Amino acid sequence: MFELVYQSNAIPDLTTENIERILEVAQNFNSKNNISGCLFYHDHKFLQLLEGDEEVVRNLFNKICQNKFHSKVELLTEGFKEERTFEKWKMAYVDLSSDHKHDKERELFVLNFLAYSELIEKPSPAIKEFWKKVRDFLEKRPMGQ
Ligand SMILES: Cc1cc2nc3c(=O)[nH]c(=O)nc-3n(C[C@H](O)[C@H](O)[C@H](O)COP(=O)(O)O)c2cc1C
Repeated sequence: MFELVYQSNAIPDLTTENIERILEVAQNFNSKNNISGCLFYHDHKFLQLLEGDEEVVRNLFNKICQNKFHSKVELLTEGFKEERTFEKWKMAYVDLSSDHKHDKERELFVLNFLAYSELIEKPSPAIKEFWKKVRDFLEKRPMGQ
């Protein structure tokens, strides 16, 4: 199983419709091509983990790099692992835009999301990098620290 993680900057005027369209295309393509992963969006930044067959993931990443809805695409890590992490997710999507900073529901969701990361057994380097970045984006430290 090949995986990679990248981050990028969304264009300033990105709309909810743009994101919905990206997800529609992603979920359709990914399910047909055995790709899974997680797309995280926060403060106009994207963070995405893609996992699947190496050639398919690399070709998809090239297409994603050319997408006009974001720029400064930076590959953070890539490598191989034994098993999928996001088995059931053709592309899980988490939007933690900080418009509602004081929203209690949002805060609870963030805590649940981070608690989930602690449950992943034997995390690969890419998975560790992914959750580290999520925490950096959210300015949250690992649990118990
Ligand atoms: C942040 C971001 C994440 C994306 N993730 C995926 C994805 O997981 N799968 C996918 O097929 N397309 C994804 N896309 C869309 C691709 O960039 C591209 O539009 C899509 O592969 C269709 O390309 P084509 O029109 O050249 O066939 C993503 C785009 C962006 C901006």
